[in-house]
Amino acid sequence: MPAAAQRVVLITGASAGIGLATADYLQGQDWTVIGASRRGGVATDPAIGVVGSGWSPLVMDVDDDESVRRGVDGVAAEHGRLDAVVACAGWGLAGAVEQTPIAEARAQVETNFWGAVRVVQAALPHMRRRGGGHLVLVSSIGGIIGIPFQAFYSASKFALEGYGEALAYEVAPFGIAVTLVEPGNVRTDFTTSRRHVAPPDGDDPYAASVSKAIGMMERDEANGVDPLDAAKVIAGALRSPHPRRRVSVGKASERVGLLAKRLMPYRVFERAAKGSLGV
Ligand SMILES: NC(=O)c1ccc[n+]([C@@H]2O[C@H](COP(=O)([O-])OP(=O)(O)OC[C@H]3O[C@@H](n4cnc5c(N)ncnc54)[C@H](OP(=O)(O)O)[C@@H]3O)[C@@H](O)[C@H]2O)c1
Repeated sequence: MPAAAQRVVLITGASAGIGLATADYLQGQDWTVIGASRRGGVATDPAIGVVGSGWSPLVMDVDDDESVRRGVDGVAAEHGRLDAVVACAGWGLAGAVEQTPIAEARAQVETNFWGAVRVVQAALPHMRRRGGGHLVLVSSIGGIIGIPFQAFYSASKFALEGYGEALAYEVAPFGIAVTLVEPGNVRTDFTTSRRHVAPPDGDDPYAASVSKAIGMMERDEANGVDPLDAAKVIAGALRSPHPRRRVSVGKASERVGLLAKRLMPYRVFERAAKGSLGV
């Protein structure tokens, strides 16, 4: 096992929220951290422009094949290794399923699912060549429990869950681990970055329900845990010699839903979940 100081981690979505907290935290834990995003870094001072906070910023759009290929290969070439990836880039889409244009639904899945897939595909050859690695996929409690009026967000994270589960079998023989991290509500820019489906002209039969459910979700996010909590969970997974396949982070009252869904008859679970989902 190489010395911790030499280990290289690429984090996507590092310009804000969970990715940023993870980049800062791992940087302090003797990892060499490359933080990727479309902005490339954290804007600390408009006069200075966009900079990272101690780690190396990288401009990389996970929606773009070429950008990801160039970014990941560049990291491996510059550092001579790539030990871990934290696929954190993502955003949310709110609106009724019936009213969501397919292009917007596709864009949601493009970043949250295909974005992670692109980064993993680009990273795997480098990890295999070195005989090991760790892929951390930032999913969501919404990747286990469907969230009304965020159906395409949930769909993107459900896809990530199935993908990560299957991928783990394929890459284990090469010493590569896969961990799905499932946060509940976390206080980040996620709430302000959320895209909202435009309501139709005239009568909108969903208006009241969308507004109630999304309003509740936004309040819960504002009262969510600190992104540092998620960073510590991710760091713990990366440190572990036997990392768990799935690990959740957030308030106990939210994480209990994961257990309830697994254990309860579905009808009972659905009835109990409705209130907390704002429907
Ligand atoms: N906050 C929560 O309550 C919560 C709960 C469960 C799961 N999550 C998940 O946690 C992850 C991080 O979310 P967050 O809460 O930290 O949100 P955030 O504060 O809005 O950060 C999102 C990050 O993703 C980056 N990003 C978005 N689109 C990108 C693209 N096409 N290419 C590269 N980077 C992109 C953003 O950077 P640029 O804009 O600079 O590209 C930003 O750095 C997401 O996958 C989210 O689904 C969040």
